[in-house]
Amino acid sequence: MNLQYFLWLFSIFIVQQTRGQFEPAQHCDPNKCLPPDCRCSEDRSPPGGLPPEKTPQIIMVTFDDDFEKRSFDLYNELFDELRNPNNCSAMGTLFICQNYTDYFLVETAYSMGYEIADHTVTHQEPTTYWERANFTEWKNEIDGEKEILHRFANIPYDEVIGFRAPFLMFTENMFKALYTSKFGKFTYDLSWPANVIFDGKGPMYPYTLDYLSSQTCPTIDEPCPKLSYPGLWEVPNVNLMNKDHSTCASMMDGCDPSGNYTVWLEILTRNFHYHYDTNRAPFGMHMHPTFFLTTPDHMKAAKQFLKYALDLEDVWILTPSQIVAWMKDPQDVEQAKTFAPWQCPSRPKPRCTEETAHNCHYTEPGDFYMRTCTPCPPHFPSPTDPDGN
Ligand SMILES: *[C@@H]1O[C@H](CO)[C@@H](O)[C@H](O)[C@H]1NC(C)=O
Ligand SMILES: *[C@@H]1O[C@H](CO)[C@@H](O)[C@H](O)[C@H]1NC(C)=O
Ligand SMILES: *[C@@H]1O[C@H](CO)[C@@H](O)[C@H](O)[C@H]1NC(C)=O
Ligand SMILES: *[C@@H]1O[C@H](CO)[C@@H](O)[C@H](O)[C@H]1NC(C)=O
Repeated sequence: MNLQYFLWLFSIFIVQQTRGQFEPAQHCDPNKCLPPDCRCSEDRSPPGGLPPEKTPQIIMVTFDDDFEKRSFDLYNELFDELRNPNNCSAMGTLFICQNYTDYFLVETAYSMGYEIADHTVTHQEPTTYWERANFTEWKNEIDGEKEILHRFANIPYDEVIGFRAPFLMFTENMFKALYTSKFGKFTYDLSWPANVIFDGKGPMYPYTLDYLSSQTCPTIDEPCPKLSYPGLWEVPNVNLMNKDHSTCASMMDGCDPSGNYTVWLEILTRNFHYHYDTNRAPFGMHMHPTFFLTTPDHMKAAKQFLKYALDLEDVWILTPSQIVAWMKDPQDVEQAKTFAPWQCPSRPKPRCTEETAHNCHYTEPGDFYMRTCTPCPPHFPSPTDPDGN
């Protein structure tokens, strides 16, 4: 090979590299975007050609932010005695950020079967911080929390595969950081709010970001992704709707906070039926622990609703990673009972007990406590120093 030709080839290679590995996303072509690893956002029918009445209806219950004793007790109370059709305990998903999180309890929740997911290290305000954050800032926040979860709660790197943006403020830089995480690309994002579409086809199903999304951008400022992220799943955060079909809120605690038991049982049941009676797209109950703190009626209503739903016998309470596994390998209501990714998870016990856990205290950059089974790191973990060295 002559030198000139070699240099020419080499320069093409460099140009490709520096343009980044990301190509502009095209409109989705259902003939090219094929299962199991690609799905168009426009496709609102159950996967695998399942008829809706044979499609298991999934409910995902997710909780955001720091994780401490009070929240843990509430979540356990919510799921107490709730069992899926295969007799495994119903479990939720925790999107965790750093300040005030008790990593001994994260390790305990993981051992019980909760899915542990990433919600950045700092979750700092204002919301515009996230809109403007550059690639490196997103990367440190995302990889940083994953490292912290591994280091201080012993969660395997390949089990933290889901992400939600603080304030649902997702951006192109965020998707780039999820895709190029140093621990391998994330499996799903759950940051993008969507309304139910009342055209009889039902709400959106999870889809991949290989192609342009048909999901509307929540605000003009919100930079919706224009690049292609092959194989990265977007699980739409379907908003709660009012009776007149207007949007109530993306998170439950943002919708009718003073609503009593009757009001909340109605809100949940009605929104659930937009899914169950149409295409059976997964129904999300997304919340902060404050949902349960405003009035005890909210816990009562949420528990009663979940019992009602499970009594329908084709309803499952699952985590987003279990949903993605099923989107890739769809099972009908009967097959679902023996579907491996929906079996009860077998997880290691926490490495320590309440008595032997380390209680770490920091005064910099603020007054913070952190409980963990590992020895206390010298510094409070941060995006650029997740190990706290
Ligand atoms: C379901 O699991 C619980 C707890 O392990 C057990 O007590 C119960 O007998 C099981 N029910 C069925 C129908 O297998
Ligand atoms: C968490 O702590 C960091 C460091 O003190 C701070 O920058 C950040 O704003 C805090 N986040 C929240 C949500 O309070
Ligand atoms: C990203 O932001 C950080 C902190 O503000 C800054 O130090 C860094 O230079 C920025 N990186 C790029 C590539 O702009
Ligand atoms: C619950 O709230 C609704 C709407 O405000 C009200 O009509 C109803 O009487 C309340 N129910 C109870 C039991 O307080």
